[in-house]
Amino acid sequence: MVHEALHYLLGGRIEGTYLDCTAGEGGHIKAILKATNGQARVIGLDVDREVLDLAEQNLEEYRGKFRLFNSSYVDFEAVLRQAGVERVDGVLLDVGTSTFQLKSKGRGFSYELDEPLDMRMDLSAKITAADVVNSYSESELSRIIFEYGDEKRFARRIAKCIVNRRPLSTTRELHDAVKAAMPPAERYKRKRHFATKTFQAIRIVVNKELENIEGVLRSIPGFLK
Ligand SMILES: C[S@@+](CC[C@H](N)C(=O)[O-])C[C@H]1O[C@@H](n2cnc3c(N)ncnc32)[C@H](O)[C@@H]1O
Repeated sequence: MVHEALHYLLGGRIEGTYLDCTAGEGGHIKAILKATNGQARVIGLDVDREVLDLAEQNLEEYRGKFRLFNSSYVDFEAVLRQAGVERVDGVLLDVGTSTFQLKSKGRGFSYELDEPLDMRMDLSAKITAADVVNSYSESELSRIIFEYGDEKRFARRIAKCIVNRRPLSTTRELHDAVKAAMPPAERYKRKRHFATKTFQAIRIVVNKELENIEGVLRSIPGFLK
């Protein structure tokens, strides 16, 4: 995947300025700088302050060739202005959760850990996963799980179980609500963990992922060289 992303992003160029809207742990930024022998420049954004600290460490050898900003890509224009850059040669968006967020304790993204239901990528944001599961109506939850989780057959049953078990405050409680909504045969036959789709759906809502992506995709083309 990284190889393909670089192929389309760089198109064989070894110079230029690139915008990584979702810097995460800095994996793609490092790959860009490596592929261009350190000749490219990269501006990286992430809403998660904690993951940017890790990116900074991971990119140590390329110091001076990248700049990281703790900002949402929704505000990329302001960041480009601050960086003194008018247009860029390419833009990268690698949406979803970073490994760091899934594995870190206390962030509430993973059904494998038992901790507060949070799921905020931006820790200064107000709405948490607990707010969503405890305040949305059963039909709203069902729609979200169906549409954003692609949970076609069990969305309504999962939403009902969540509502019956309120208030939910931990990832374990959400995991158990999904488990109770699904027959064992369904749970066992799935290739991925049975709670994956529901967790994904709630995370997308908490972080306004679809609205954000739609907005940035509309405005980014105007900033490409
Ligand atoms: C899949 S990870 C990116 C991994 C990265 N490409 C790498 O190579 O390490 C997605 C990242 O997007 C960040 N993110 C999510 N919404 C964002 C937003 N609106 N603005 C900036 N970053 C965002 C998350 O915090 C997360 O670190």
